Amino acid sequence: MSDILVHTEAGITTLSFNRPERKNSITSAMYAQLADAMEAAAADASVRVLVFQGSETVFSAGNDIGDFLNAPPADPNAPVWRFMRALAGFPKPALAAVNGPAVGIGTTLLFHCDLVFAGDNAAFSMPFVNLGLCPEFASSLLVPRMFGYHRAAEALLLGEPFMAEAALEVGLVNRVLAPTETHAYAQAQARKLAAKPLSALVETKRLMKRGLDVEVNARMNEEGASFGRMLREPAAQEAFGAFMAKRKPDFSKV
Ligand code: COA
Repeated sequence: MSDILVHTEAGITTLSFNRPERKNSITSAMYAQLADAMEAAAADASVRVLVFQGSETVFSAGNDIGDFLNAPPADPNAPVWRFMRALAGFPKPALAAVNGPAVGIGTTLLFHCDLVFAGDNAAFSMPFVNLGLCPEFASSLLVPRMFGYHRAAEALLLGEPFMAEAALEVGLVNRVLAPTETHAYAQAQARKLAAKPLSALVETKRLMKRGLDVEVNARMNEEGASFGRMLREPAAQEAFGAFMAKRKPDFSKV
């Protein structure tokens, strides 16, 4: 079975992370599958809504750390950057149903979704600093703007997880549900959207994002250049090596 499941029905394309043995962490191959599916969904007039989901216990543990170590993104056409561009520019409504951990890009992708529903077991985190990295996917722009600066600093400098209720309070999620209900609720909202006129949805989303889209693209490029460099530097190499060896990282010399 594929690590990304793509299912289209009644105008809704659902993308499911399906790599439970690695907590739905995302490899280059998975980013490529996601980007392909989103480009197809954007171009297909019969698709009106996109939904991301994981399982009842985990959304995504973020980028596969083995990939960070062995196959870091090399150029702007690397699958991870393709995925980010496809979602940041996705013209139709994009929804997410999140249960359990949503780490790194598992959280930052949510800033590019239009509606987010979370199980009460959802735990969001952006531990880039803890990995010797900087924010990606325009999160250095969007997190302070949504959370306020000090709460953004807590999330991005301390990198500590925050739970569904806190995410609801800052506006990252629309509704908190029982984990058994999250996927069904997201599908029900997606069906409501799929019944609306697509041209009105697309134009409304475009207008809401107007201006912000330019800032987001510029920030993604700036972050991408730093992130690509920092992946190869000693702090990140120490963090990845420590994760693989299941030991605490030692940043005293970096
Ligand atoms: N990349 C590669 N493998 C990962 C992974 C990742 N991002 N996240 C988890 N895994 C692997 C673990 O190494 C473990 O492998 P093992 O069975 O060979 O030991 C397996 O998935 C299960 O993970 P585990 O840590 O035992 O599960 P948990 O329920 O205790 O914790 C998380 C879940 C998501 C909180 C924890 O796995 C985690 O923090 N992962 C790293 C997240 C991260 O830093 N991502 C990068 C963000 S930029």
